[in-house]
Amino acid sequence: MAEYRIAVLASGEGTNLQALIDQVHTAGRGRIVLVASDKVGSGAVKRAVNAGIPALTLPPCPGEGRTAFHRRLAVQIRDVQPDLVVLAGYMRLLPGEFIAQLAPIINVHPSLLPAFPGLDAPAQAIAGGVKTSGCSVHLVDEGMDTGPIILQRPVPVLPGDSAESLHNRIKEAEHQALVDVCLAFAQGRVDRQGEINLTEEIANED
Ligand code: GRF
Repeated sequence: MAEYRIAVLASGEGTNLQALIDQVHTAGRGRIVLVASDKVGSGAVKRAVNAGIPALTLPPCPGEGRTAFHRRLAVQIRDVQPDLVVLAGYMRLLPGEFIAQLAPIINVHPSLLPAFPGLDAPAQAIAGGVKTSGCSVHLVDEGMDTGPIILQRPVPVLPGDSAESLHNRIKEAEHQALVDVCLAFAQGRVDRQGEINLTEEIANED
């Protein structure tokens, strides 16, 4: 079977990318063909380089708008012909034309969407006084964390949690959820609406 090709966009530390490197790429269950970052010096690009994965740092030019920047980025991504584009801590909204060219695109977000979209979701959860938060992996549309949800994992908010301690625990859940969803895509277990078949995973792994 042809290798399943994954392109990853990341702006930050890259712990979600690392989970994909360890549990998908190095495990031979899919191939990360490109890691692209809009931030100079990102941890994500360092992790890609350490793993021998092609990496690209492409920051916006001064005064360059969102659409023009993403047109340049889309050229680079299309070039590697990914089957799936993963936003693993990519902190920009994608224009519709980028999504249309490169779908399916998935994003991982540190809350149980539709609760707490946007920035600082763990801090929003603490401020909102909820007992349970978690993570979501969803298909990307033009909205802010609004696309169809594929998989969610709950994480308890513990007494005394700070936004940081909660986020660290949520990230552990994110890593596994993102790996599970990428493997499901690679095995043809996610449809165009984002419906995932989790039961088949066990059968496929036998
Ligand atoms: C994750 O919590 C992700 O959900 C959010 O940004 C964080 C990125 O973390 N969008 P990392 O760079 O993968 O460590």
